[in-house]
Amino acid sequence: MTVLPPGSPRPRRLRATPALRRLTAEHRLDARDLVLPLFLREGASEAVPIASMPGVVQHSRDSLRAEVVRAAEAGIGGVMLFGVPTTRDAEGSGADDPDGVLNTGIRDAIAEVGDAVVVMADLCLDEFTDHGHCGVLDGAGRVDNDATLERYAAMALAQADGGAHVLGLSGMMDGQVGHVRAALDDAGRADTALLAYSAKYASAFYGPFRDAVESRLVGDRRAYQLDPANRREGLRETLLDLAEGADAVMVKPALAYLDVLADVASASDVPVWAYQVSGEYAMVEAAAANGWIDRERAVRETLLSIVRAGADAVLTYWALDVAGWLRADGGAGGAR
Ligand code: PBG
Repeated sequence: MTVLPPGSPRPRRLRATPALRRLTAEHRLDARDLVLPLFLREGASEAVPIASMPGVVQHSRDSLRAEVVRAAEAGIGGVMLFGVPTTRDAEGSGADDPDGVLNTGIRDAIAEVGDAVVVMADLCLDEFTDHGHCGVLDGAGRVDNDATLERYAAMALAQADGGAHVLGLSGMMDGQVGHVRAALDDAGRADTALLAYSAKYASAFYGPFRDAVESRLVGDRRAYQLDPANRREGLRETLLDLAEGADAVMVKPALAYLDVLADVASASDVPVWAYQVSGEYAMVEAAAANGWIDRERAVRETLLSIVRAGADAVLTYWALDVAGWLRADGGAGGAR
């Protein structure tokens, strides 16, 4: 038998009781740092469940308004709105139509909560185009970067007019942050903040989201979203967005990209957020529904990991669940 000599390190000492573990936890979850993504379906008279995202719905206008109020009451940091339009075209004209589904949702949300919760909107064309790409296409069927920037600028002005506090640039076009910033500033919208989805990867984990928005995409987004093989490029994209004036930067997806998140967190001088995407949600929900994983423990662990890697805030479909758990445990916010 070997026995540790006197003075040996015994890191288990600080793990001995729940109180010691609570005091020595390096990170904790906080509802104020969570953002709830919400889908608004044009013309829906009631909320419609999304099969691949159990517990998540496409909202009607009324149910969206109620959910935004719930988010405010739960004390979460913000909501991120996505529109599911009934008609789509090549240019995504619904995106900058003031009466389009997303711009309507922004006005509804602001009418309910004003400045009490941060209201953000997805700034991307994919939900509005009939081909499902994040931009407009050129004659050869490729996404035309610079023509798309003009569409993003128009969309940004419509979202700012609706009162959105933060616009989430998720299209991965080159120069989108600088171009949209300039368009907003020229229009007297210097106060509208820009969240840059800086390191957004071409990911299999967006699968359920594409059901949620009834995406028409044929093919993939590899000609504009990042290659999952690339770490350094995530940092490069972030530095470009910072130089173009991003107010916050984001890494997406989250769990499979914690290395990128850690890089971005150490390089950024603005808030760093992460998006725990639809496929991350679906994986845990499916395993939990089968009794193969403890849902609350797994959700807390994934979120703590994302925070530990350096995220200041996290977009998560579990935001309201987590806020409820945190209330129940007195805001302790640790692992379970
Ligand atoms: C683009 C957008 C996507 C997501 C958020 N914004 C889809 C995509 O890039 O294909 C995915 C979010 C998720 O999977 O939860 N509008």
